Amino acid sequence: MKLIIDTDPGVDDAMAFYYAHAHPQIELLALTTIFGNVTIDDALRNALWLTESVGAATKVHRGAAQPLSIPPNPPADFVHGPRGFGGIIINEPNRSAEALSAADYLISITRKHPGEITLCAVGPLTNVALAIQKDPQFLSRLQQLVIMGGTLYAKGNVSETAEANFWNDPHAAHIVLSAPQPANVITVGLDITDKIEFTAPDFDRLAQASPKAGEFLKSIGAFYLQFYQNRSGKATCSLHDPSAVIACLHPEFFTIETHGLSVAMSGDDIGQMQINTAVNARKSHVCVGGDVAIIKENFLNITGRNP
Ligand code: BDR
Ligand code: CA
Repeated sequence: MKLIIDTDPGVDDAMAFYYAHAHPQIELLALTTIFGNVTIDDALRNALWLTESVGAATKVHRGAAQPLSIPPNPPADFVHGPRGFGGIIINEPNRSAEALSAADYLISITRKHPGEITLCAVGPLTNVALAIQKDPQFLSRLQQLVIMGGTLYAKGNVSETAEANFWNDPHAAHIVLSAPQPANVITVGLDITDKIEFTAPDFDRLAQASPKAGEFLKSIGAFYLQFYQNRSGKATCSLHDPSAVIACLHPEFFTIETHGLSVAMSGDDIGQMQINTAVNARKSHVCVGGDVAIIKENFLNITGRNP
């Protein structure tokens, strides 16, 4: 599978990267970066560092620095640490970003390989919306777009009803979910990701199997686990972004409903994913549940293959 991950690294973004890097069926072409958990400068730095840490050939592109229409929310330093990697200070990477912006790269690579690219977007959807605005056929040229974002039935994580990635750029999320062109779009949101509980012993298992990448994830995961524990009283964190990458290859692990969708762009419910019952609404596949044990085991197994 030719895969691109659009990402705001971030602890669970780093987990998603190492999963994809180690998967024998994934050719990870690029990371396109986006503001969200961190600033765009830190997203780029962290993405370059991740690829460098395992000598990956994966290219890195700079994406949007802010949402399409709303003022940017501050980075989620209380969730992911001051610069995205918990309490860990990394060296500045030696690699540099590619010349093309994220949106221009997405347009150009899908023209080169129409119908072959899977895009997994695990941050705010600004880059994807910009690509659609510049080239309305962009979505139709993807093999699939798998999005970590939204929630239909479960509670939000930044408000009663909104999930963080959609809340950080609700206009972009709305453009992507309501674009009329035919497209294979899957959302993997809190309905499933908040049910997958990742623990300190799970991080230990990763560190044992993979002394470099796994140990790094264990170190940055400590901050992430602490945030969850402070919020819920439970010593477990959710497996958000890795679940979306797993869904790219294994939709059969998930329970899926198919709906027309929209996103609230103002008011108390800003960022909420909603069902759009209009007959001409483009349909997306929404992961509303799944086999929690299989998804977690698959993540641990594959990610543990890293150096
Ligand atoms: C999403 O928000 C970010 O904090 C995570 O990286 C994930 O993409 C979960 O709501
Ligand atoms: Ca993310």
